[in-house]
Amino acid sequence: MKSWPYPRVAAHRGGGTLAPENTLAGLRTGASFGHTMVEFDAKLSADNVVFLLHDDTVERTSNGYGAAAHMRYAELAALDAGSWRDARFAGEPMPTLAQVAAFCRESGLAANVEIKPCAGRDAETGRIVGAETARLWAEDTKADIAPLLSSFSYAALEAARESAPDLPRGLLFERVPADWRAQTAALGCLSLHASHRHLDEALVERIKSAGLFILAYTVNDLDRARQLVRWGVDTICTDRIDLIGPRALDD
Ligand code: G3P
Ligand code: MG
Repeated sequence: MKSWPYPRVAAHRGGGTLAPENTLAGLRTGASFGHTMVEFDAKLSADNVVFLLHDDTVERTSNGYGAAAHMRYAELAALDAGSWRDARFAGEPMPTLAQVAAFCRESGLAANVEIKPCAGRDAETGRIVGAETARLWAEDTKADIAPLLSSFSYAALEAARESAPDLPRGLLFERVPADWRAQTAALGCLSLHASHRHLDEALVERIKSAGLFILAYTVNDLDRARQLVRWGVDTICTDRIDLIGPRALDD
């Protein structure tokens, strides 16, 4: 019988909407609310450094412009990825996965590393993020919860399986497709991750009956979060880390 060691609540992009997403300030904010699990998005710079960013381009969440896949990490690290959220986060950089791993390990935070390849870089991003995650968390003597790899990209998760076969995997969907069983089985997934908007009780039941755990994103309403847990969802990922606290969904 497989087990699910992860908490019921994960802070989306580190600190949800209370801090700049995918930054160390975001992770610190999540931890400051007592959260014990964080989700974040990892991709490759032009020189193959694994760093945190959601979009393919940097303009929404920094003071820079252009495609991240064409920028070296030194250029990305010089950008201000904090001010767009609030002036008090001015100068906050896009961190490397190594910095994030160190913070998670020091703080005892469980991690959901979402592999978010830039267009056309699915397999190499999956391969490198998988290997880096395995290497960075392997050094952890305190961690008893392995980082959970996930991706919307089948090719990325397949490559991560090759480079980090021992790490747990979750395939991400917005709307769960008809062939979810075949896809998750082929990738040897521990979990299926889906938008809560397209989940219903019967679908949750079918997924759980197949032996998969479920992470639902992005749930910002406490009543909805409780309903999903009642149906059998194992972890919810939230932007409202203040409304849905770390213990809010405990039995
Ligand atoms: O991993 C759950 C969630 O983060 C997926 O959507 O777009 O916020 O990365 P997105
Ligand atoms: Mg994500």
